[in-house]
Amino acid sequence: MDIVEKTRRLKKYEASEAVAFSSEGSPGMDFLSPFGPLIGRTRMSVGLIDHLNSVSDALTTPGQGAEFELSESDCSRGGEDSLQSCVTRALRTYVESVEHEPPGLVQLDNVWVVSQFAGTPSPVHFHSAELSGVLYLKVPTISSNADERNYISGRQAGYINFLIGGKQRFARSLISFKPVIGDLYIFPGWLLHGAEPFRGTGERRSLAFNARVE
Ligand SMILES: [Fe+2]
Repeated sequence: MDIVEKTRRLKKYEASEAVAFSSEGSPGMDFLSPFGPLIGRTRMSVGLIDHLNSVSDALTTPGQGAEFELSESDCSRGGEDSLQSCVTRALRTYVESVEHEPPGLVQLDNVWVVSQFAGTPSPVHFHSAELSGVLYLKVPTISSNADERNYISGRQAGYINFLIGGKQRFARSLISFKPVIGDLYIFPGWLLHGAEPFRGTGERRSLAFNARVE
């Protein structure tokens, strides 16, 4: 009885055997990347993004950066197609896929919008929640960086950088994703992330949230 219980509890930490990439070398080689935090990516509908942008437009001044919380009624408007319903479903998929069993409770704790223009940084940070996410509502046109930056989080200005563990030889410790409208990333709230200030035109508008999961 005790052994069965322990096995079930440990299962959520069991990694995947999936091949991350293969090398064409001689000999060829499969590479496995079984450890570390899992980042989920899915897409939200155009209708939802449009709704969130119109809500945010009413709370911002064109051309000026801002950061503000979204009200519960803005998050729940639209019933099954609302932000709250869509994100909760995505969070359930994340937890069930990662932990091999459905969560008992998934609840959006707080939701906020970050509107940025060229030159504004989002310093590396983590969230207070166990599970968090970010959804892109608007993306700027980013001027390519002629001067290659070599500090850890700054290689891809305007992208989201996730970092873990510092430099460890033969291990990967950072990744950058280009913001795409409608892309939703779900990740552990303790995972360090940030965005370097970009050069370019237009608004970078993202929606972030913290979730309670039990
Ligand atoms: Fe964040």
